[in-house]
Amino acid sequence: MTADEKVTLLHGPMLGMVPQAKRPPGVTIGAGYIPGIARLGIPALVESDASLGVANLGGVLRKGDVATALPSGLALAATWNPDLVYAGGKMIGSEARAKGFNVLLAGGVNLVRDPRGGRTFEYLGEDPLLAGRLVAAQIGGVQSNHIMSTIKHFALNDQETGRNIASVNFDEASARESDLLAFELGIEGGHPGAVMCSYNRVGDTYACENRFLLTDVLRRDWGFSGFVMSDWGAVHSVGALTAGLDQESGEALDTKRFFSTELSSALLAGEVPMAAVDRATLGILTAIYSQGLVDHPVIGKSAIDYAADGAVALRAEQQGIVLLRNQDGILPLKAHPRTILLVGGHGDLGVLSGGGSSQVSPVGGLRRRATATGSFTGYGYGGTPPLEALRTAFPDSVITYIDSTDLPATIAAAAKADIAVVIGEKFSSEGVDVRDLSLGGGQDDLIAAVAGANPNTVVVLETGNPVVMPWRDKVAAILEAWYPGQSGGTAVAQVLSGAVNPSGHLPVTFPADFGQIPNPVLPGSTMGPPSKQDKALYGSAVTSPTFDIGYPEGSDVGYRWYDARHAVPLYPFGFGLSYTHFAYAGLQAHGGATVRVTFRVTNTGTAAGADVPQVYVTLPGKARRLIGWSRTDLAPGQTRTVTVVADRRLLARYSVQNRGWLVAAGPVKVEVSRAATDPVLTASVRIAAAQLQP
Ligand code: BGC
Repeated sequence: MTADEKVTLLHGPMLGMVPQAKRPPGVTIGAGYIPGIARLGIPALVESDASLGVANLGGVLRKGDVATALPSGLALAATWNPDLVYAGGKMIGSEARAKGFNVLLAGGVNLVRDPRGGRTFEYLGEDPLLAGRLVAAQIGGVQSNHIMSTIKHFALNDQETGRNIASVNFDEASARESDLLAFELGIEGGHPGAVMCSYNRVGDTYACENRFLLTDVLRRDWGFSGFVMSDWGAVHSVGALTAGLDQESGEALDTKRFFSTELSSALLAGEVPMAAVDRATLGILTAIYSQGLVDHPVIGKSAIDYAADGAVALRAEQQGIVLLRNQDGILPLKAHPRTILLVGGHGDLGVLSGGGSSQVSPVGGLRRRATATGSFTGYGYGGTPPLEALRTAFPDSVITYIDSTDLPATIAAAAKADIAVVIGEKFSSEGVDVRDLSLGGGQDDLIAAVAGANPNTVVVLETGNPVVMPWRDKVAAILEAWYPGQSGGTAVAQVLSGAVNPSGHLPVTFPADFGQIPNPVLPGSTMGPPSKQDKALYGSAVTSPTFDIGYPEGSDVGYRWYDARHAVPLYPFGFGLSYTHFAYAGLQAHGGATVRVTFRVTNTGTAAGADVPQVYVTLPGKARRLIGWSRTDLAPGQTRTVTVVADRRLLARYSVQNRGWLVAAGPVKVEVSRAATDPVLTASVRIAAAQLQP
């Protein structure tokens, strides 16, 4: 390869920003594009977002184009079902191929450290094991199509406020045991072709020019052989190349063309060695060839079986809905209620989705109301409207919708209905964190008022984040449906009717109030506008002065923080009810080199259902942590034996000095639990000391 050919592979534009006349002919417009090299048969990289479906900024990028919209990442994580998450990734990968893409910017696995995170809905929850195993499955599914996937955003980009400027500063061992562990598991299990580095700084150095992250951790310790692409507008220097960044994405968003114009001069001046260009080129080519982009090229566009793909989205939401409350077994709704009143949430229009680069224009398109406001692509409702789905699920009932703008009329209508179903919605989006944990817009008062008028009030939440529920004890039932994807209306109606037995479990803790979370005040949220100097230094995307983010919880993310402080959340990690009951018995726990646990799960109720028994360990002086789970489908009366074996890193602490994991000999408490705070069977074992090298 000539030097110019190598450099060609190291940078590319956002095609949507390139004037039409200059765009390569026939290429589908997505988030990114890296030209190929025809002379050598190296294909262009045609890149699209992402994890919830083939995204197009909710229809902004390719007007009229649609794709199958999965439920949000939190819903996928709530299934605790790697096979289903794999099927979702496989589906998206196949649609990407059919639309002319060969790279998916999927695999978002930043941990939920703050319930206000604007992208919480895209990610896979707060636990590194759950998130890491699921992201590996998602990436594996995407890449089974010979479509390359990323894993992103590396690393510690756990909030949107100040994402272009803030520095996350906390100790290496804690990072290795939490956020980095999720990436480590995702990379070793999913083998993504590329890693996308994040916007923020880590230890004062931008993630995309952070030698520690990109070279020491990723390549030296984890043996990653693919390439690192930047997030869009996340490159700040040509020196990023020598620190370990290989490719500048969306280059027009950066303050300079670092990996083209700037790089050429730096090479000439001898400021950057050609060896760095060679390393980057090799990583990119390794990923292109090993993922089969050359042997299985994407040629033109092909037809998509939207019915089959829609079934995957439906299955994901059926398993991702979490039943949080079911007083007196009001659900499933008995017989057929004469009248059902559906209240609010634009339930006549569709279901809500999150905003930003991941937003998919679902089959049928996104529908917007004239009054809707929101950031970036804004609010959008799509898929089967809950009203229509309820009418299908309850053909003998009279079902009406009221939009709740007239509160007295809504209360009067609720008082007359047999059942009131209220949708509580909360929009969230990339680029901005939510301000608080309430539903907003008077919805909490609305729910309380409807519940006051009708004791059979069921709340369906369409949220991208945990929310507080001041009305919790007044309503009969609560379903967390997340952003439910294009078939979410149908899945919700099926859960209400009992056609589907809910089996989702929370992948994230729902706090009782702000006082419980590690950073009660969101870092950076009280900052004024950026100084002139910050803008000059960091570009126009910067929205605040520089600031630091600290995580007092360290590696005790989510439920572990609550456990360490004996705080009782609103709903714990792992929680989820069912229409049947499960019993656990016969625990056998073994120690030694690792922890190995066997027990029996029995469906003791009258309905078929799936359970997610979880195994936690507590090391002396530490907070408990998840070491495994088993999602198990059981007919009434059926029993299955489940075995869980701990990954030894979950029993260890990371030693910076030894550059590896150390397991200390000693006792370990083992629990088989229904949720992080609800152990059913317990045992104690002894583990042996060990030193694990990366
Ligand atoms: C997001 C990435 C996304 C990229 C391309 C960025 O703003 O952070 O997740 O892949 O845009 O759309």
